[in-house]
Amino acid sequence: MAQQTIPPHVLIFPFPVQGHVTTMLKLSELFCLAGIHVTYLISTQNYTRLVRCTNVLSRLSPYPGFRFQVLPESVSDGNAQSMDLVMNLFESLKTAKTFFKDLLIGEAQKPVTCIISDGLMSFTLDLGEEIGIPIIYFRTISSCSFWAYFCMPKLVEAGELPLKGDDMDVLIKNVPGMECFLRQRDLPSLCRVSDLNNSTFTMISSETHQTVRARALILNTFEDLEGPILSQIRTEFPNTYTIGPLHAHLKARLDGKTASQLASSNSLWEEDKSCIKWLDNQPLKSVVYVSFGSIAMVTREQLVEFWHGLVNSGIRFLWVIRPDSVTDEEMGSEIQAELEKATKARGYMVEWAPQEAVLAHQAVGGFLTHSGWNSTLESIFEGVPMICWPYFADQQINSRFVGEVWKVGLDIKDTCDRVVIEKAVKDMMEVRKEEFVESADQIAKMARKSVGEGGSSYCNLNRLIEDIMLMTV
Ligand code: UDX
Repeated sequence: MAQQTIPPHVLIFPFPVQGHVTTMLKLSELFCLAGIHVTYLISTQNYTRLVRCTNVLSRLSPYPGFRFQVLPESVSDGNAQSMDLVMNLFESLKTAKTFFKDLLIGEAQKPVTCIISDGLMSFTLDLGEEIGIPIIYFRTISSCSFWAYFCMPKLVEAGELPLKGDDMDVLIKNVPGMECFLRQRDLPSLCRVSDLNNSTFTMISSETHQTVRARALILNTFEDLEGPILSQIRTEFPNTYTIGPLHAHLKARLDGKTASQLASSNSLWEEDKSCIKWLDNQPLKSVVYVSFGSIAMVTREQLVEFWHGLVNSGIRFLWVIRPDSVTDEEMGSEIQAELEKATKARGYMVEWAPQEAVLAHQAVGGFLTHSGWNSTLESIFEGVPMICWPYFADQQINSRFVGEVWKVGLDIKDTCDRVVIEKAVKDMMEVRKEEFVESADQIAKMARKSVGEGGSSYCNLNRLIEDIMLMTV
């Protein structure tokens, strides 16, 4: 009698913020399609948001091997913002260690084959080693930022960190592969510290170094986009699987009907789809889409500068302003009234948009973004040129690659003066439109090829799945 094969059981543990949660959920679904069983660890807050805002439960229920496992309530961001949020979560995750261990040991009926852990949680490595379960790390950020984080100790050793002097245009020499274009100002924001004992700096640097203990590394990118940096990464991590852009990879592997349901993209906020109707009435490639992701905050002054810049450019715009994204008091009612009038003529505003559908819309011709990695990949995939105003973390280096390496947009980091915004919008949408559209189209084609049958990400995902299958033998 033929022996029945038991499907592998993978435990997926994302860092509990939107950009990580949604990306790793997409990987989970890709595994389910391949017959792998998945337990997905999620914080109470994120589970509640996910269920409220998406059809994720009904979409994932047909997979018999998928289940959510909610973490203890102690894992919470405490409603912090930006780097405080990351640090709060990092600290609170440590309280989940015992829970996580009990979960691993308690899975007697369905033993865990391997753990796919977000690359910021080395306690999973400790437990994996203790219990004897292989750990694969998934860094959901760009390869270029991962590599820069990994090289931080080298920068400290060479005296390049903390940063020297006020000239932020000085080149950084000790991130191999980026010597010719990486300036001080392009390093991840947390490198801009005067004290190397800064807790966030220490955390990211040491957590990134722990990656060497993982069995393998997964990156949400594709070979044609970050090839030279991936060659550098493979000198330290030979077993690296590049399987992105994941949002597109998942759609490519689903049948048409299920893929169209994915238009709602696992967001943790309610999407205002009315903006799609508004876009339907705008001319081809005439609208600049403005959004700064799920964490970035702006001050009242910055908001007003963006507003003036957009209105003065004369270009149509669709702007996402999350209710929790403006840091200080209400803006003066006079300015607000004036700007709202100008907005009505040419703009549309929502609190949260169906971003993937917006970027895929034919009326959208440019994206003013904070350069979060998911937004960058989504824009690249749709061939939409970008104006980059990076806010924090990996975004500073992502935007340098957009402007200087891939040449699919303008990097305006460290300023959001209304004149700069106006000029950048006009340049992207009118003056240099052809040049940007051409290079964005080229990279978009490569992205599509990578997730299509036989493409690099397609083959790497198959290799990853096969390697996990082999772990059960
Ligand atoms: C965080 C970090 O800030 C970012 O630097 C890192 O690269 C990933 O994790 P976030 O700031 O939210 O993410 O940015 P980003 O990675 O761009 O992710 C935002 C996601 O929210 C995208 O998938 C985007 O499609 C979605 N989104 C954004 C919406 O669905 N609607 C919106 O209105 C805005």
